[in-house]
Amino acid sequence: MKVPVIPTKRLPELLRAMPKAELHIHIEGSLEPELIFALAERNGVQLPYADVEALRSAYAFTDLQSFLDIYYAGASVLLKEEDFYDMARAYLKRAAADNVLHAEIFFDPQTHTARGVPIEVVVAGLHRACVDAEVELGISSALILCFLRHLSEDDALQTLEAALPLRDKFIGVGLDSSEVGHPPEKFARVFARCRELGLHLVAHAGEEGPPAYIWSALDVLKVERIDHGVQAAQDAALMQRLADERIALTVCPLSNQKLRVFPDLADHNLKQLLDAGLAVTVNSDDPAYFGGYINDNFVQLFEAVPALTAKDAYHLAFNSFEASFAPQPAKHAWEHALKACFERFADHQG
Ligand code: ADE
Ligand code: ZN
Repeated sequence: MKVPVIPTKRLPELLRAMPKAELHIHIEGSLEPELIFALAERNGVQLPYADVEALRSAYAFTDLQSFLDIYYAGASVLLKEEDFYDMARAYLKRAAADNVLHAEIFFDPQTHTARGVPIEVVVAGLHRACVDAEVELGISSALILCFLRHLSEDDALQTLEAALPLRDKFIGVGLDSSEVGHPPEKFARVFARCRELGLHLVAHAGEEGPPAYIWSALDVLKVERIDHGVQAAQDAALMQRLADERIALTVCPLSNQKLRVFPDLADHNLKQLLDAGLAVTVNSDDPAYFGGYINDNFVQLFEAVPALTAKDAYHLAFNSFEASFAPQPAKHAWEHALKACFERFADHQG
């Protein structure tokens, strides 16, 4: 569609109001400090922080690993089905308030099974929250099981086997955790098996790692989307391939800023990726840790990068629906709602 001209001063309002999908959110990364402390108390878990403020003040990250150490510590309060339910419920409520119509939610079962929490408990709580949110909040959602790449492929294979009886409760698999030193090809066998099972495939690649990891995520793992992928800009041939094949990148601006992938939000390369014809989307990654949910990511990025326009906003939201794993009729309905929102703004009614 021809995107209507919308005055720059109305951009933040438009970014918040426009319907969107979120395709890169780690549910354990939505655990707010207040909920961490409430669950610690409910479950009798001792935390190495005196209070919410002390925990929050530990959120000063220097790179991905410095964040992951705290993120896994935060997840230690999750023990019961109800804990997983409450966490996902809180995220879905917050996402619905940001006009997220559809969310594809990552979860890390190995973080929990390693502490003796059965995978059935994890999935039951998360799945029930998704079902209830559809009815009560009108938000559509689905789960994506992520393998932790700092662990072995055998561990991932065992996790997959344990998850198979729950196959109808997740739509795909992903790959996350410490990237550098753990290239996608380490997980070739488990992804091949997931592909045979008809699961959707995604992987974190090119967050801190080199473009070579994006190539192997595509060629060895055969993923359908790349999570982050911002390092693709270093490789012209890769940029061309991503554009030609319309392989979506789920970019997370505030995460990249907080983990120092870019020195400042103003230095973020999202506009460059978009202008090169890549199917870029905006997402929150771990909103409780990086200072913002999806709308904060949109608004702060557009503020920091004044070259971003209403047309870019439209494409980012459109791409989020297009790159989702939702059925085609749902995508069309959401894209129609997006168009209607922009037309309302063009008519100055908001
Ligand atoms: N797990 C949670 N957030 C992550 C990120 N940004 N990169 C890799 N693994 C993660
Ligand atoms: Zn991530």
